[in-house]
Amino acid sequence: MAILDIIEVPDARLKVISKPVETVTDAHRTLIADMFETMYDAPGIGLAAIQVGVPERILVIDLQRPADGTPEDADPKDVKYVRDPLVFINPEVTWASEELAVYNEGCLSVPEMYADVNRPARIRATWLDETGAAHDAELDGLLATCLQHEMDHLNGVLFIDHLSKLKRDMLLKKLDKQRRQAA
Ligand code: NI
Repeated sequence: MAILDIIEVPDARLKVISKPVETVTDAHRTLIADMFETMYDAPGIGLAAIQVGVPERILVIDLQRPADGTPEDADPKDVKYVRDPLVFINPEVTWASEELAVYNEGCLSVPEMYADVNRPARIRATWLDETGAAHDAELDGLLATCLQHEMDHLNGVLFIDHLSKLKRDMLLKKLDKQRRQAA
């Protein structure tokens, strides 16, 4: 496994429309393992293949979940979270609720910048996993938000593209300033 370089704005590759995967191969599974390692290292909760420069419709997400056997009424500070890796290949949204949910989003390609984005609160989606098996499920909460954010990457769209130009320019300016200070 390897930690890959994550590309950042304004890299033009982030605007590329990624291609569907025709057959899930061992090469894809190696890429997926590297994407997880890269995401955990960053750290982040989702990563699209294009963010490591590969224009294929592949995403990894891990929102973590309470360890098995955690009581429903456990004190939040006592809950131990474990990894819960999810792979989405060729994901498609087949239904979206009219009801929206707002989430303060961030992105490993727009480091340390956050903004509220509205998206459908619930979606129904289809996808393949790393074995090539097909899935069809209704998703809500953070997973629905995160999947929509990551699917945007496959179409060359960043969360900042959902903001007004004024807000987007402000965030990009802030990012520039932060990079200059770090240099
Ligand atoms: Ni992102």
